[in-house]
Parts: sequence; C-alpha cells; structure tokens
Amino acid sequence: MDEKLIVERKKLLDKLGSVPEPVIENKEWLYLLEEETRNSILIEGYFLNEEELEQALAGNKPVSKSQEEAIKYFKTAKFIYGLAYENFKSNELLFGIPLIRQINKELGFSGEFRKEKIKIGGAKFEPPENYIEDWVRIYIDYVHNLNENFFNRLCVSHAFFEEIHPFIDGNGRTGRILLNYILISNGYPLVIIKGTDKKKQLYYKGLEELDNQLSDLFVKYENIPPDKQEVSKS
Ligand SMILES: Nc1ncnc2c1ncn2[C@@H]1O[C@H](COP(=O)(O)OP(=O)(O)O)[C@@H](O)[C@H]1O
Ligand SMILES: [Mg+2]
Repeated sequence: MDEKLIVERKKLLDKLGSVPEPVIENKEWLYLLEEETRNSILIEGYFLNEEELEQALAGNKPVSKSQEEAIKYFKTAKFIYGLAYENFKSNELLFGIPLIRQINKELGFSGEFRKEKIKIGGAKFEPPENYIEDWVRIYIDYVHNLNENFFNRLCVSHAFFEEIHPFIDGNGRTGRILLNYILISNGYPLVIIKGTDKKKQLYYKGLEELDNQLSDLFVKYENIPPDKQEVSKS
C-alpha cells in the first residue's frame, strides 16, 4: 500500500472538511465503489467491463455470473462502508465476529467458520486447521490495536486474515471489504487492490512475504489454543 499517497489524500480531505459520506449520490464514491467491485471480483476470476457493471447495477436482470457476483459485492461494500463512516463520525470501531460473518454471508457464502482443513489456491502457505474462531479473535484484537504504525499493521492484518482463511470461500472478498472498512472507519478513503494480472501478482507476492513472516506463529501454536498465547500485541 502506498502509505504516502493515502496520507496525502487524507490531509487534502481534512482540508476540504474530512472524508465525505459514502453515498452513491456522490459521484467520486460511486466511481470508487464500482472500480473496487470490478477489481476485487477480477482477483477472483470474474471479469466485467464498466458497461456490464452499469447494466447490472441498473437493475436489469443479471445475465452473467460476473454480474451476479458484482451486484453482491457492490451492495455489501456499500452498506458496510456506510457503517464504517458512522464509526468515523462517532469515533468508535464496531468490529467483531458478527460483522465478519455477515460480510461473508452477504457476499453469498455461508458466513460459518470452517471446520475442516483448507488450501489456498496456488499458495504454499497452509492455513491453520484448528481453533479458527480463536484465530479470528486474535485478528480482531490486532485490528483494535493498529494505533502506531497504522499502515504497516493494517497490511499485516489483511495478510493475517487471509492466512487464517476462516471461511470455506469468499475470504479474499471478505478480507478486502474489511480492509476498506477499517480505513473508512479511520477517516481514510478506500483503497483498490487492482485485479489485472500484473497487479494481482504483486498483491499475491505481498501476501507471500507475510506468509513467510507469520508462518512460524501458526506452526508454533498449531496445537495450542491461540487464546492461551500472547500473540496479538506483537
Ligand atoms: N499466499 C497467500 N497467502 C495468504 N492469502 C492468500 C495467498 N494467496 C491468495 N490469498 C488470498 O486468498 C484469496 C482467495 O481466497 P477465497 O476464499 O477463494 O476468496 P474469494 O472467494 O473471495 O475468491 C485471494 O483473494 C487472496 O486474498
Ligand atoms: Mg473463491
């Protein structure tokens, strides 16, 4: 994540009276939300161009699988970012298991934490097999303590969530919506992780680097309930 750029943007927004409410009547927000939708589902293999997205959002019957996925993503992100903006306004962070599960559900998945082993497509990293809910609680705790070194820890938190891979499916999309939820809750604009081949490679490379840094943690606590460990503050 380009920290300098986003900090500059926040300064500019602060000058203009802080980050605007994420409502689709606001053209910039709508544009960002649409671009995020297209890119985030592209990372998962669903391509649709701007026109196809416009058609889908206009309420015409979705004709393709990509359009269906886009509508679910767009609606979920829109609602969740509205909530994030309320966090920002009230200087509070509503962040916990119900929110995480509900995002996964609204995206069309089960919203249930997995009970079985899973593989991340194309990755060497193996997500933990046990204590999924405990791992998620540690992730939540970590997000509540981003304070100093905010951007660095925010990136780590995203990789941490993806490595836990708590759901059977939809972890990428759920995790990216959570990432922007945290940003907006803190008064920052959203980020768009690009889904084009080259940019996706870069995103995956970043995740792999953090896989390497965090894998010891997962191995070490594989058979010990993570809530018994002091890992969330480090
Ligand atoms: N090496 C990796 N380490 C951690 N997470 C990864 C790695 N490679 C891919 N991912 C994450 O896994 C996501 C895909 O998981 P998946 O549950 O299928 O999500 P979705 O259904 O949204 O497709 C990617 O979008 C990415 O965020
Ligand atoms: Mg998937």
